Amino acid sequence: MSLKGKHFIDLADFKRHELRYILDTAHDLKRKQKRGEPHELLKGKSLAMIFMKSSTRTRVSFEVGMTQLGGHALYLQPSGTQLGRGETIADTAQVLSRYCDVIMARVYAHSDVTELAKYSKVPVINGLSDFLHPCQIMADMQTIEERKGSLEGLKIIYSGDSNNVSNSIMQGCTIMGMDVTIASPKGYAPSEEIMKRVDRLSKLYGTTVEVIHDPIEAVKGADVIYTDTFFSMGQERSKEKEEALMPFQVNRNLVDQAKNDVIVMHCLPAHRDEELTSDIMDDPKYSVVFDQAENRLHAQKAILALIV
Ligand code: CP
Ligand code: NVA
Repeated sequence: MSLKGKHFIDLADFKRHELRYILDTAHDLKRKQKRGEPHELLKGKSLAMIFMKSSTRTRVSFEVGMTQLGGHALYLQPSGTQLGRGETIADTAQVLSRYCDVIMARVYAHSDVTELAKYSKVPVINGLSDFLHPCQIMADMQTIEERKGSLEGLKIIYSGDSNNVSNSIMQGCTIMGMDVTIASPKGYAPSEEIMKRVDRLSKLYGTTVEVIHDPIEAVKGADVIYTDTFFSMGQERSKEKEEALMPFQVNRNLVDQAKNDVIVMHCLPAHRDEELTSDIMDDPKYSVVFDQAENRLHAQKAILALIV
């Protein structure tokens, strides 16, 4: 199997055996890195990283990942490039393709990353859009496998605001055979567009995806509890949304209703004591949030090594 030349924008573009291949490669690269075994699979290759929004994990993990693979990464922001003066995404894609072997972009509108891919001659990776965050979910599935041994048959629940992260969780976890429950308040549930796509996947892979409005009900029998910020980058804070989401906070009361060996996940950055209480986030019995952050490095190295 080869994923060479494929864009990594939307997990629904991949079949289970392809995501399996990326996850197996991620576990392998992590082992190699821990043992100090060289794995310069991208010697002399360059990654252009376009960041239209802030980032700590995505930026550092991609940049360090390219270094460990023997390549090089360039950090580009609109303010320091001609993108900020109105050069189009289409023109930028064609120019960067002449210098670089792969492009990663973190954008506001999802259409910006698909536009980039349309005009790029090299593979494009989605480093987060307003619709999806596929790299995050590859690292998350790697983390779940480390803790639970496998993915198939597990139940993951996401409690909070439906957003790019919950959309990619629904896609990735469904493809890999997990049952997914989203617990969101009315008005903050997943869009019809994503539900249509996910329903297709759940039929294909024989899993269940449900959206409910009661986190306590959702968490029954859960192996994994996931949450993310109430306000994603680019969204205005509002009292109304905060009040609607507070009952969906991941805290000890919620965790106590799940399986005894449940793990708690968050893509970070966390807003401590808002969507996730500090006592749970800092409790090693439950929290795997920093493993998730570390696995961004290994999962993305796998994606890079396979598509470039
Ligand atoms: N989880 C994540 O994508 O973090 P950053 O915004 O720091 O990149
Ligand atoms: N949903 C969050 C994820 C940050 C990594 C956001 O888009 O801001």
